Amino acid sequence: MNPHAVAFAGWQARLDDACGGLHAIRRVVALAETASTQDAPETRAAPAGTLVTAWRQTAGRGRFGRNWADTGTEGVAASFVVEAQSGERLALIGAIAAAEACEAALGAPVGIKWPNDTFVSGRKLAGVLIERRGDLAVIGIGINVSQQEFPPELSSRATSLAMLGAHADRIEVLCALMRSLDRALAATDESLVAGFHARDALRGTRALFATPEGPVEGEVRSIDPMHGLVVRTETGERFLPAQSTSVAEWGGIRVRAV
Ligand code: BTN
Repeated sequence: MNPHAVAFAGWQARLDDACGGLHAIRRVVALAETASTQDAPETRAAPAGTLVTAWRQTAGRGRFGRNWADTGTEGVAASFVVEAQSGERLALIGAIAAAEACEAALGAPVGIKWPNDTFVSGRKLAGVLIERRGDLAVIGIGINVSQQEFPPELSSRATSLAMLGAHADRIEVLCALMRSLDRALAATDESLVAGFHARDALRGTRALFATPEGPVEGEVRSIDPMHGLVVRTETGERFLPAQSTSVAEWGGIRVRAV
């Protein structure tokens, strides 16, 4: 039998066990392979409280229609279906859950680049995609676990737990993610904001943002769990919503056009 099939065969039982002590995550579905865990029929038909993961995700999606590279069997890909709530709160939940799961594997703190990228030494370790679907929302989280290298177009911007020195097993990272997600879903806004600020890579810096109304530049002040990132611009303070805003320039480096 294919060794991948043997290893995958143990996943569902491990994940069911991990689900046992949790509150918000009530059911886990492990798929052998899917294009995107966000779009799998198992996710689209799922009630709130369901986490769908894949042994292999071949066409993951990122924010604003970007690609999330096929990580083969080297990454964690999970989508959690939750009751719809404030998009800013969901962005904080995704950010804290991904960061805590990475920290558990690394045994060291990580940074968060608003709204919810996990960053270490200027490279992205994990990403979060939040999509609203009627009365539900789907929090999609991808974590780079055991890659030793990335394609040339990503190599200067991406990293993995293994490249950072952690000997992490994918299923353990996934179980840690389930625990951190469960905690974050139950956390108060105050504690989510505190967890975000403790890791915030943008706070106190100047940054340029792409927004639907055009570019916005200013100093990042804080995060508001209802209204988004608080930025002091030349014309006063503005709130930037996580769903529609992306960072275009940060730390003097242009990361995308505005
Ligand atoms: C980003 O950084 O832009 C977000 C990346 C989100 C990737 C995860 S992997 C699991 C889930 N399925 C997807 O297709 N995307 C998310």
